[in-house]
Amino acid sequence: MKTVGTVFPFTAVASRKMIQTVDFKNGKNFVELGGGNGAVTRELLKKMRPDARLIVIELDPKYADSLRKIADKRLTVIQDSAEYLEKIVKQEGMDQVDAVLSTLPLVIFEKGLRNKIMDSVMRVLKQGGYYIQMQFSVMTKKEMKSRFNNMRITFTPFNMPPAFFYIVTKE
Ligand SMILES: C[S@@+](CC[C@H](N)C(=O)[O-])C[C@H]1O[C@@H](n2cnc3c(N)ncnc32)[C@H](O)[C@@H]1O
Repeated sequence: MKTVGTVFPFTAVASRKMIQTVDFKNGKNFVELGGGNGAVTRELLKKMRPDARLIVIELDPKYADSLRKIADKRLTVIQDSAEYLEKIVKQEGMDQVDAVLSTLPLVIFEKGLRNKIMDSVMRVLKQGGYYIQMQFSVMTKKEMKSRFNNMRITFTPFNMPPAFFYIVTKE
């Protein structure tokens, strides 16, 4: 199952909070899963170095097309499912991903798909890299805690609905 979830508008303030842990000074390779309206994409591009790259994987062709209109040569938009992350990263010649930022609606995914995506994220991330997953609830907290030792959760009320960020550091 691939799944296209509802796109809740995501605010610039929430996007900034989501990416505040990321090391933009040294990091050069970034991946975003579920680009939607591009709020996170735009904040990432503002922070990234001129020689950095961002691959955005978005399943919905309508959103993928509108993301492609963001004129920035550091950005590559791929219209496909996040479950193909590893293949896409390889095809795009990117290795050692510094951070994966995801606003995928993981709670509505089948467990198998959730696991497949999270396994792939951990394989593409470099050691010390970040996987930051936005969620609108703590429904997957237990599941994610048991999977990741090195995880903390932050929260922002500046979004409707308010959002939680699961921040995992690859050990
Ligand atoms: C909460 S919205 C994204 C909000 C977005 N980050 C923003 O700034 O507007 C979730 C996005 O995930 C996309 N999506 C759902 N299932 C997906 C999948 N399997 N692979 C890639 N994208 C997916 C949806 O189409 C939607 O655009």
